[in-house]
Amino acid sequence: MARSLLQPGASVQQVPDSFIHWFRFAAPYLQKHRDATFVIALPGEAAAHPNFLNLAQDLSLLQSLGARLILVQGARAQIDAALTAVGIDAPLEAGVRVSTAAAMPHIIAATNAVRTELERALSAGLLGAPRLRTVSGNFVVAKPVGVRDGVDYLLTGLVRQVDRQAIERALYGGALAIVPTLGFSATGEVFNLSLGDCATQVAKAVGADKIIALLGEQRLRPLLEQQSVVLPARAQQLAAVEMGEAGLLHAVAAAVDAGIERAHLVSYEANGALLRELFTHDGAGLLIARQEPVQVRTASAADVGYILELIQPLQESGVLVQRSRELLEAELDRFAVLDIDGTAIGCAALHPLDEQAAEIACVAVQPEFQGRGYAGRLLEFQEQRAIAAAIKRLFVLSTQATHWFIERGYRETPADDLPAARRAQYSTERKPRVLVKLL
Ligand SMILES: CC(C)(COP(=O)(O)OP(=O)(O)OC[C@H]1O[C@@H](n2cnc3c(N)ncnc32)[C@H](O)[C@@H]1OP(=O)(O)O)[C@@H](O)C(=O)NCCC(=O)NCCS
Repeated sequence: MARSLLQPGASVQQVPDSFIHWFRFAAPYLQKHRDATFVIALPGEAAAHPNFLNLAQDLSLLQSLGARLILVQGARAQIDAALTAVGIDAPLEAGVRVSTAAAMPHIIAATNAVRTELERALSAGLLGAPRLRTVSGNFVVAKPVGVRDGVDYLLTGLVRQVDRQAIERALYGGALAIVPTLGFSATGEVFNLSLGDCATQVAKAVGADKIIALLGEQRLRPLLEQQSVVLPARAQQLAAVEMGEAGLLHAVAAAVDAGIERAHLVSYEANGALLRELFTHDGAGLLIARQEPVQVRTASAADVGYILELIQPLQESGVLVQRSRELLEAELDRFAVLDIDGTAIGCAALHPLDEQAAEIACVAVQPEFQGRGYAGRLLEFQEQRAIAAAIKRLFVLSTQATHWFIERGYRETPADDLPAARRAQYSTERKPRVLVKLL
């Protein structure tokens, strides 16, 4: 039921809890993506796919949320079709096209036709949002690839220079910049560029926050079978066996090597894949990151809301001891959190008991992230802190997770073993089991 004046206060219950939960956890991404610059490598196949209109809407949404978008646009499939139609041979050598003078007008026409298709789809825009403006131009100065292994690549080019200022002017003017895979030389020639090289060079030139390559499902699935996050070295290993799109994976991994913080490979076929990748922790594609996105660190004031959201249901059901926001804030330095992209999705506390004893407490991980070893990492972090503080005996009082701790080197012990002050507070009502580990 839509909210209306006739039905005042349409019930908030109609919005599912999962939406509220998702929206809250998307907050760090909404903040992070605002004013961030993304270079998106879009192969010609993506523009021809039935999902393209959805993708164009998602790009409009991203732009309306404040991201600055540069679309680097290829047209290989359309070029193949155009050349076949007129019977011109422009073969691929080592995945790179040999662009003859006869083929070039068709390459230019096919590339321009894809650009027009992008402009058409992006103009259709987003319901209720202002029409998206696009700016395209001669942003790239190119040079010939030249002769490699005895093959003359003729009018196939490499990026020599990117007109960063012109692209930035378009972005700061509120437009989405379209960079076609055509480069121009000072001598008046037009060169056909590879999508990967063009996108990587543009990303480097503008200092992009992300480079995103859109791939077909057939290419993406095998990459996602074993992992969804890789460091650049592993990405290069995968690129060695991935032959698609003249090495798009290799190109974006090179961009990360060159200093771009993150690269993403995302399906252009799956509806909403780009939004899932950019606004959820688990994403929907392959992330190549310079730094592992999951980290354990000591808690800070910004984590208090997340920790409370995590522990409140467990306190209500009696799994964890009640702890007020004030107490949590006062003892915040005792907490470690598991951070994914700025959101605390797990926590563990280390409370000093006396000079040689401490207590691990409040170990919790968001249900959807359990079973991935995250609590184990939090426990190890706190144990290392305890060792550094010369703690000899580490206690845990638990009602529900005794076996979890026993499997990690703890053993049951009588409550009388607790240091006197803690023993005095032992709850005879909850009757937690007491476990200890000697460090
Ligand atoms: C206990 C808890 C922190 C584990 O988090 P996690 O990130 O899933 O833990 P890990 O991934 O490191 O370990 C997962 C393993 O522990 C097991 N496990 C999870 N909860 C368990 C429990 N209560 N008792 C025994 N084993 C448990 C899982 O089955 C899994 O076993 P497997 O590897 O053989 O499949 C999480 O379940 C939680 O938040 N529970 C509610 C709060 C709680 O009970 N805290 C402990 C009291 S301080």
